[in-house]
Amino acid sequence: MTILITGGAGFIGSNFILNWLENKKEGIVNFDKLTYAGNLENLECIVENPNYFFEKGDICDTSLLRDLMIKYSPTSVIHFAAESHVDRSIEYSDSFIQTNIMGTYSLLETSKDYWNSLEESKKKKFRFLHISTDEVYGSLNSQQEPFNEDYPFKPNSPYSATKAASDHLVRSWHKTYELPAITINCSNNYGPYQFPEKLIPLTILNALAGKPIHIFGDGKHVRDWIYVKDHCIAIKSVLEDGRIGQVYNIGGKSELENLQVAILICKILDELSPKIDGLSYQDQIIFITDRKGHDRRYAIDISKIKNELGWEPLETFETGIRKTVQWYLNNPKWVENVQSKEYQKWIDKKYGSN
Ligand code: NAD
Ligand code: TYD
Repeated sequence: MTILITGGAGFIGSNFILNWLENKKEGIVNFDKLTYAGNLENLECIVENPNYFFEKGDICDTSLLRDLMIKYSPTSVIHFAAESHVDRSIEYSDSFIQTNIMGTYSLLETSKDYWNSLEESKKKKFRFLHISTDEVYGSLNSQQEPFNEDYPFKPNSPYSATKAASDHLVRSWHKTYELPAITINCSNNYGPYQFPEKLIPLTILNALAGKPIHIFGDGKHVRDWIYVKDHCIAIKSVLEDGRIGQVYNIGGKSELENLQVAILICKILDELSPKIDGLSYQDQIIFITDRKGHDRRYAIDISKIKNELGWEPLETFETGIRKTVQWYLNNPKWVENVQSKEYQKWIDKKYGSN
């Protein structure tokens, strides 16, 4: 019994693998291209685990995917791999189109053919779980109800548009070919191993380095933050008990403005790692030009997954962010490697740069 996951060297994927191997005896194959966002160091503690397998490759490579399906006979596929950063998508949308749309298409095709080749009992158990984002729904104003699963798609960034396209492909592969697919649309994750280009790790590390903490626009943009482990628990629950063909929205019940997030991080750092000059990290916060097409507010209605599967987030933002800040303080080597590009050089040498 082995599941195949794509993008397992990224932030959520690596947390998912660590969580999976802690709780399950089933094997897990991690198929990852190791882009700048893929970091095998996240998984160093399980390289010797006999239930863990790593394969380097691109989800756009259909023939490699077909070989993998034959080699491992996965019982399910969980699709995390994506280009995931909105600011990068505004600068360079090409890799987002390739990976998020073409890559999802190629994974769907190979999964469909593989699923069709299975004997009846395995075919019945197989699931294709697609990990997507709340950003496909677009932006809410402060008065609007949180996104539920029937909310229309109105993506505003190249990132969210390509994720929306991938969600549509998954839906159609289920409707047309009966592939047993389920989609998860989750809000902003935070926690250990997040690449320091996203708001929370970037704020922590810029604060510690004495650099400016950049807040886009007026800082009143709202995100519904979820601790990554809560997301991983939800994914496992949907994999085991979710209904085929359904969409489940997942959120952290923690709506906060970006400026509030930055201030809270600074307060925790003031306590856990006070500055020598006695000043607060908050003095480093500066406001900069807003992101183009910046979504004002995301908020998630989690009633469907709560009612059907009994899932709810365990962490509040206050507990989760404290753990996260502590993790970055405890792991300076990880931070140094990610920031120094030493890690990427080593990977290129070991696995090739393509
Ligand atoms: P990430 O950027 O940290 O990791 C992405 C991983 O995918 C990396 O390991 C990268 O090497 C791999 N990858 C990229 N292109 C690939 C390709 N062509 N072939 C194979 N592997 C490839 O992303 P993340 O934050 O862990 O997000 C994982 C998934 O969850 C994404 O699909 C994202 O859209 C979704 N999601 C993320 C968030 C969030 O807040 N981070 C929220 C909701 C949904
Ligand atoms: P981010 O972590 O990039 O996630 P997403 O764009 O997918 O929501 O950004 C979270 C919010 O923080 C978003 O409103 C943009 C804002 N932001 C800043 O204000 N400053 C920053 O340096 C970054 C990276 C993001």
